[in-house]
Amino acid sequence: MKLEQLLRTKSVLVCCGTGGVGKTSVAAALALSAAQVGRRAIVITIDPARRLADAIGLRHKIGNEPVLVQQIGDGQMWATMLDVGETFDSLVKQFAKNQEQTDEILQNTFYRNVSRSISGTRDYIAAERLLALHNDSRFDLVIVDTPPTRSALAFIEAPERLARFLENQLFKMLISPTLTGMKLITGALQPVVRTAGKIVGTAALDDAIAFLRAFAGMEDGFRQRAKQSSALLRGPLTSFVLIASARSDTLEEASYFADSLQRNNIAIDLVIANRMPPRFGDTSAEVALTRSQDADQDLWRNLAHLHSEAEEADAQLAKFMLTLPMTSCLRISERSNDIVDLNGITDLTTSLLVP
Ligand SMILES: Nc1ncnc2c1ncn2[C@@H]1O[C@H](COP(=O)(O)OP(=O)(O)OP(=O)(O)O)[C@@H](O)[C@H]1O
Ligand SMILES: [Mg+2]
Repeated sequence: MKLEQLLRTKSVLVCCGTGGVGKTSVAAALALSAAQVGRRAIVITIDPARRLADAIGLRHKIGNEPVLVQQIGDGQMWATMLDVGETFDSLVKQFAKNQEQTDEILQNTFYRNVSRSISGTRDYIAAERLLALHNDSRFDLVIVDTPPTRSALAFIEAPERLARFLENQLFKMLISPTLTGMKLITGALQPVVRTAGKIVGTAALDDAIAFLRAFAGMEDGFRQRAKQSSALLRGPLTSFVLIASARSDTLEEASYFADSLQRNNIAIDLVIANRMPPRFGDTSAEVALTRSQDADQDLWRNLAHLHSEAEEADAQLAKFMLTLPMTSCLRISERSNDIVDLNGITDLTTSLLVP
């Protein structure tokens, strides 16, 4: 699908790709492009690094609470960074029966550890936060910037894993009020505790059990939310955009990434090839090389070199796109400077929304 169509019709765009290819910069540029076509878009980074804030030049201003970065006519660009602990706490407050249950959970050491430090939790909470932003009437489009070096699917699978876990019969027994005392956490229940440990990390067992008890009654709410966020991610309102850069090693990684998405029935709607070597004029590398016999030899030789780089990148990209025959491809050329503020992001949008 063409980018403008995605920006105008979708509710969620997930920017994925391997490390350092420009996901954060491109995600911010997509949000700005969406604002340029009149949508109220928010870019959320689930990366704990502060790169999004840096990329748009708002180092200390972006947190869990969305910030309006730019208004363009009716269009808006917002930005937010995922705060896992804060998002988890707000879920607890939402689903607890009463203040007592809220307090019991928020003060539980196991809960504090799990909600503040475990990476599996981050994936689940990111999906939850995505759902909350999607349901927030201030925004029409949520653009997700995913963190580097992770399985393409972690983020999509996390809510599905949690929903399955909460439906597990043994888990239900574990939190049932008829079960009292640690002595009973033996035999058949141990696998559940181990599974819990795998999902949420390991912590002192008694804390974990106390947490699970305090959690009783809230699992329905959590399960519903997990199911909703997984339905949103897999549904027609969401598109996946693969960011790649045209070097053979990163394209190999991109292929692996695309394969694992496709094997899980997730289509990539758009590839954005970032940092493409720029072209200077229409001359080919071959012609430039012939001219390097002339005067201005060095100049022509440099130009020939730049052209052959650009041609090589084009060929690599074309080969890669053959593996994704249904997917469109957009290119962003390499800029001479790092992207460190809104001007840099605005400059990237000129490569995205070409008339
Ligand atoms: N088109 C471009 N031209 C020049 N520099 C770029 C371009 N796109 C991104 N960069 C630079 O590349 C670096 C990595 O970009 P960015 O942080 O957006 O990548 P990322 O994929 O989000 O990285 P990570 O995987 O670490 O999260 C940054 O220094 C950024 O300024
Ligand atoms: Mg990033």
